[in-house]
Amino acid sequence: MEDDSTPPTAQLAHSTLNDDSQILKSEFSDRVPIRSIISRPDGGSGLADQKVRIGGWVKTGRKADKDAFAFLELNDGSCPGNLQVIVQADKADLGQLVPTGTCVVVDGVLKLPPAGTRQKVELRVDSVVHVGPVDPAKYPLPKTRLTLEFLRDFVHLRPRTNTISAVARIRNALAYATHTFFQKHGFLYVHTPIITTSDCEGAGEMFQVTTLISEAEKLEKELIKNPPPSESDMEAAKLLVKEKGDVVSQLKTAKASKEQIGASVTELKKAKDSLLKLEERSKLKPGIPQKDGKIDYSQDFFARQAFLTVSGQLQVESFACSLSSVYTFGPTFRAEHSHTSRHLAEFWMVEPELAFADLKDDMNCAEAYVKFLCQWLLDNCFDDMEFMADKFDKSCINRLKLVSSTPFERITYTKAVELLEEAVKNGKVFENKVEWGIDLASEHERYLTEVKFQKPVIVYNYPKGIKAFYMRLNDDSKTVAAMDVLVPKVGELIGGSQREERYDVIQSRILEMELPLEPYEWYLDLRRFGTVKHSGFGLGFERMLLFATGIDNIRDVIPFPRYPGRADL
Ligand code: 4AD
Ligand code: MG
Repeated sequence: MEDDSTPPTAQLAHSTLNDDSQILKSEFSDRVPIRSIISRPDGGSGLADQKVRIGGWVKTGRKADKDAFAFLELNDGSCPGNLQVIVQADKADLGQLVPTGTCVVVDGVLKLPPAGTRQKVELRVDSVVHVGPVDPAKYPLPKTRLTLEFLRDFVHLRPRTNTISAVARIRNALAYATHTFFQKHGFLYVHTPIITTSDCEGAGEMFQVTTLISEAEKLEKELIKNPPPSESDMEAAKLLVKEKGDVVSQLKTAKASKEQIGASVTELKKAKDSLLKLEERSKLKPGIPQKDGKIDYSQDFFARQAFLTVSGQLQVESFACSLSSVYTFGPTFRAEHSHTSRHLAEFWMVEPELAFADLKDDMNCAEAYVKFLCQWLLDNCFDDMEFMADKFDKSCINRLKLVSSTPFERITYTKAVELLEEAVKNGKVFENKVEWGIDLASEHERYLTEVKFQKPVIVYNYPKGIKAFYMRLNDDSKTVAAMDVLVPKVGELIGGSQREERYDVIQSRILEMELPLEPYEWYLDLRRFGTVKHSGFGLGFERMLLFATGIDNIRDVIPFPRYPGRADL
């Protein structure tokens, strides 16, 4: 690494594959990443006459000069570009090499191509080390351009495409940038739980985690195979216990030997045990266990209701209120039935939490973080961003430049509503009505950021009625210290707030919103004991990818999208 803000790239290691060859290789693998050849400033020309081993998948292949040799465009995912590979017919069955999708490992010599060709270097193959063949009649991703929607039916193969692999590299870069930014600023990475018993947003959109259903199914099957005891089985078992008991008393009265009494007591115990087992089995009922007409969660795995987290915020707050500046970055889950291009049922969120910080500090942190991400992509992913600009959104690179260098607009919610009302007066038509108190719809957010200000906008001080219970009540008692960062292309990218640190106020907010107090008692403890002013926010990681790449649908910027009706693999 050159400095602390440059990600490591795979470098050519000047070691050899074996002692007597001079083939270059990389660490941890016996081939050279294509990136380390063609992404050099000289395009690889400086490596001419070097021997290398390359592995990759054929993007396009064709035979030439009456099948005397084949041209293969090879891609190994290390960068958007391909390496041109030339194989003579005496080295392999060329017909097997050329189908799109074929995996090929070859040893060869890098050569300067004839003048006038696009690439700066090409590979002349000495030997073909491995072929993973493809039957073109069966391969689902032919060479033709495929729609992103079509590719969603092949989530396991779509990383082979230029678009999904570029998205994967940009996503990786944003994750690396995220950790770099927060580590650089002294934040501690905290792993918050995925299974939780508190509903952070209080919106009732949680997926439940339970074994009651699978246990009930198992029991049902078992009871069919091995039915519960009948009344007469039970009677017979009771009779046996009585008989065995009688024998014991008779032997005792008759002053029988210790051994005889002992043996009869053992018999009695056996009969009692099997009666007990029968009684237990007779209590087994198919279906979900119930108590007082409700599901009996005391019999569930965690002995209480549990869910997948919608946000790591509440738990990360407990670390902020001890360790000051922290962040969590993990998957979050929402059972919203939104079929939009901006919502997923499983998405990743970056959530910093800062003690001794108010809403303004929070906004400053959010703005600095988003700017850092944009600059990072310009510095480290330019080739992938050029691909995105070419194929999806001409303005995506300029957008990154603009956002990384321009201060964000900051307006109150009240001002935002005024601006929207003004727009309506001037003839702008919104589907959703604009008035003070509404939750801003995506069309409103996008108007503000794309049309009105044409840059990111932070809207703050929202009406308390539309925001979560934990946001700090402002002195007007009508609004809370919330802030949303709105960006072009996406609308809401970040949601955050200063947290209510006053014990009495937060308690009455929980009650006011008709949430149960009991699950939040631990959260109230953070206010009962050593309370502190603190703030934080959540950045939707896939929304950031939409913003950066210009791709339209959020289902195409996460490796395995989950949304209503779909959870492939
Ligand atoms: O605004 P949200 O709901 O805020 C929270 O969850 C807070 N607990 C965060 C915090 O303060 N620590 O969600 C934060 C962001 C949104 O701005 C949006 O970018 C993204 O998460 N988001 C979604 N992304 C994809 N699919 C969904 N269903 C999303 N819901 C929210
Ligand atoms: Mg929000």
